[in-house]
Amino acid sequence: MNMELLLSEREISEKVKEIASDINRTFEKEEILVIGVLKGALFFMADLLRELKIRFVYDFIQAKSYDGMESSGKVSIIKEPHCDFKDKNVLIVEDILDTGNTLLYLKEYIKKKGAKGVYICTLLDKKKCRAVDITPEFRGFIIEDRFVVGYGLDFNERMRELRDIFVIKGC
Ligand code: IMP
Ligand code: MG
Repeated sequence: MNMELLLSEREISEKVKEIASDINRTFEKEEILVIGVLKGALFFMADLLRELKIRFVYDFIQAKSYDGMESSGKVSIIKEPHCDFKDKNVLIVEDILDTGNTLLYLKEYIKKKGAKGVYICTLLDKKKCRAVDITPEFRGFIIEDRFVVGYGLDFNERMRELRDIFVIKGC
């Protein structure tokens, strides 16, 4: 497969620290509940959480919206978190925001469970691809509409373990 480096491990790590300090500033007074979106957010979430200086607890949710390289538009939850959302400030951590269907769905789902506030943190944002009205409160990089892999992001479940983020050429 023909791949081109988009973001190096070092660039990613610097950005993760910046995002973490924004989060530290925003939530310095109150404990937050961090919800990672499996499986893509795994590495981002692990790196981010270790930079946080605020009080937090965390859990994971898993949604399905993509098949291969195309968004199906339909979202379903395939792993539910077993935590109490009532009156919590919830921070959803996601690898990439594309059409926005997944995060909009998850945001509504968590709101319905009684969260006080729901905030979104995404490492990557394909801003031009947005199909619904959603803006992340915390964002790493805005990228073009290219298919990317690595640092948790997959192409049919492969290449998640790469330390840098690559564009798959020809996509
Ligand atoms: P959305 O619902 O269209 O915003 O899609 C979000 C989900 O699609 C992400 O959580 C990713 O799992 C997946 N996704 C979107 N773009 C890419 C990509 O370029 N590479 C890998 N996965 C992607
Ligand atoms: Mg994902």
